[in-house]
Amino acid sequence: MTVKNKVIVITGASSGIGEASAKLLAKNGAKVVLGARRTERLAAIVKDIEAAGGEAAYQVTDVTKQADVDNLVKFAQTTFGGLDVIFNNAGIMPSSPISALHTDEWDAMIDINLKGVLHGVAAVMPIFTAQKHGQIITTSSVAGIKSFAGAGVYGATKFAVRNLMEVIRMESAQEGTNIRTASLYPAAINTELLHTITDELTKQGMDAFYQQVGISPAAVANVVNFAVDQPEDVNVNEFTIYPTKQA
Ligand SMILES: NC(=O)c1ccc[n+]([C@@H]2O[C@H](COP(=O)([O-])OP(=O)(O)OC[C@H]3O[C@@H](n4cnc5c(N)ncnc54)[C@H](OP(=O)(O)O)[C@@H]3O)[C@@H](O)[C@H]2O)c1
Repeated sequence: MTVKNKVIVITGASSGIGEASAKLLAKNGAKVVLGARRTERLAAIVKDIEAAGGEAAYQVTDVTKQADVDNLVKFAQTTFGGLDVIFNNAGIMPSSPISALHTDEWDAMIDINLKGVLHGVAAVMPIFTAQKHGQIITTSSVAGIKSFAGAGVYGATKFAVRNLMEVIRMESAQEGTNIRTASLYPAAINTELLHTITDELTKQGMDAFYQQVGISPAAVANVVNFAVDQPEDVNVNEFTIYPTKQA
C-alpha cells in the first residue's frame, strides 16, 4: 500500500509543515487525521481538504497529554477504520541563550517536542505491534544533528527524538514487528515557528535569517509524502531539507 488509502495521524497539523503535509497526503488519496490545539485552524484546513475532494478529520489535541494523543489515535481508527502512519510533528522553538535562563520555555520544549513525541509513540506502539505494520515519522530539525548557539534546549529535544526514531527502527527489526521510522531534519522553513521566540535579540536575528533564505513548508511535505509512499519492505529514514541558499 502506498500513500493512497493510508490512514495518517498528524500532530501539529494546524499550520506550517503539518498543514502542508496533511494537504499533500490527502491530495494523494490518504485519509488524514489532524491534531493540534487551535480548533478554528483545524476546522478550516479540513474544510479545504474536503473541498479539494480529499478525506480528513480533526480532533483538538494537546500533545503534552498522553490521553489526548491516545484519543486522537482512537478517533483515527474509528473514523477511517485503521491506522498506518503517525507523523509526530508538533513543536515549538522559543530559542534563547542558556544564560538567559528561560526555564519555563525549557520545560515547554521538553513537554511538547520530546514528551509529545513519546506520547505519539506510546499511543501507536500497541496497534502497530499487533498488526505488524506501521510507520512513525517525526520532525526533528537540523538542530537535532548539529549544535547551534541559541538552540541548546531546542536542539536537545531534537537530538533526543532522532535517537528515539533510530532505536525504534532497530528494535522493531529485532522484534519482527515491521515498524518503520523516519526523522526529518528541516533547516529554515517559513512557518509560524518563529512566533514562539520571546527572546527579542534571538527573534530579530532569526526573522532576518528566515526572510533571507527560508523556503516553503511544501518542501518538507514532499519528503513526508515520499517516505509514506515507499513499499512495506523499505525504510527510508533520515532526511535533511535545506534551502539551497542556506550555508
Ligand atoms: N520551520 C522551521 O524552520 C523548522 C525547522 C526544523 C524543524 N521544525 C519543526 O517542525 C515542526 C513543525 O513546526 P512548523 O515549522 O510547521 O511551525 P508552526 O507553523 O508553528 O507549527 C507548529 C505546530 O505545532 C502545534 N503545536 C504546538 N504545541 C502543541 C501542543 N502542545 N499540542 C499540539 N500541537 C501543538 C501547533 O498547533 P497549535 O498551536 O494549534 O497547537 C502547530 O500546528 C516542529 O516540530 C518544529 O520544531 C521546523
